[in-house]
Amino acid sequence: MFEHLKDQPADKILALMQAFKDDPREDKIDLGVGVYKDAQGHTPIMRAIKAAEKQLWETEETKSYTGLAGDPAFADRMIELILGDAVERGAVAAVATPGGTGAVRQGFDLVRLANPGAKVFVSDPTWPNHLSILKHMGLPVVPYRYFDSETGGVDFDGMVEDLKHAEKGDIVLLHGCCHNPTGANLTMSQWQEVADLVNKQGAVPMIDIAYQGFGDGLEEDAAGTRLIAAHCPETIIAASCSKNFGIYRERTGLLMAVAHEAGRQKTNQGNLAYLNRQNYSFPPDHGARLVLMVLGDDALRADWQAELEEVRTGMLRLRERLAGELRELSGSDRFGFLAQHRGMFSRLGCAPDKVEALREKHGIYMVGDSRMNIAGLNDETVPKLARAIIDVGI
Ligand code: LMR
Repeated sequence: MFEHLKDQPADKILALMQAFKDDPREDKIDLGVGVYKDAQGHTPIMRAIKAAEKQLWETEETKSYTGLAGDPAFADRMIELILGDAVERGAVAAVATPGGTGAVRQGFDLVRLANPGAKVFVSDPTWPNHLSILKHMGLPVVPYRYFDSETGGVDFDGMVEDLKHAEKGDIVLLHGCCHNPTGANLTMSQWQEVADLVNKQGAVPMIDIAYQGFGDGLEEDAAGTRLIAAHCPETIIAASCSKNFGIYRERTGLLMAVAHEAGRQKTNQGNLAYLNRQNYSFPPDHGARLVLMVLGDDALRADWQAELEEVRTGMLRLRERLAGELRELSGSDRFGFLAQHRGMFSRLGCAPDKVEALREKHGIYMVGDSRMNIAGLNDETVPKLARAIIDVGI
């Protein structure tokens, strides 16, 4: 049987991680995978998470199963964090999932169950794993224009034009904040236009929110998601705790199905639990419990928010420095978009041969589509990157 298996294409981001590890150069710079790193290149465990972990070790008395949806208290806290008071709690069905990727995968599974004919509209570009999962599941994908590589901003006219082709029951996949891979985001009036448009077309928005707190702040980064969830009759939301709680390997995420129609929540909740049971039964609990403890304790929550804010402002400072260095070296403002982008990533918008030249000549690793992880930089490497960008002719 195994003779029928073919080699699978390598995941671009994960392959890059390996290539970086294999490079013997001491001064190499890793701007690849979306993992936060401090100035020393270390991914720290957040203080509040460490404190919660200690408390948990001392107080946890059982490792017996939770429920198919995970601990409902985790869902309650996460719903509050993401949706605030934008929708009634009773309108939201939610289950814990193994990471944000698990939530995305379960969200697509829910779509397939509810409307097997749905097409999924995705931004061009999007996180490569969205496309890979959709292909694996056999769901038809329709790209919509999103990034304008001339300006480094959103091609909003193109986006609206393309989304007019969405039909009733189709899915429009949106990034809640800190668009991955471009770093270019919608303004609030653009979110409103998108909400009106998907409603007009009868399409269902699905939001992947994996970087809340990394862009403009916890509340600001959730504003687009809240607007959509409040204005659209149905919304699917896949959330990750990997980045903002720094618990990558614990695999902690939440899938929500928001429905304003009275009486819909119970069936939605049952279907989400059913999908968990079919795919992996009970979701992992350790990371979810830490998040629940942090969000449920005033002191831990305040400390977590303070540390997250340090992370966010540190990345903003690096962005501004890089844009400033490039302004000086290029004598122009053509890299000004780097300071406008938000979150962990920015897309330079250059051709793959330039990305390759950065890697080969300067030991600088970024994804082939010119996405770079800003958190991979520090005060020493910012000028080095700026010089390399100019040197390879970007
Ligand atoms: C990324 O985009 O680099 C992260 O979300 C990590 C991943 O799983 O791809």
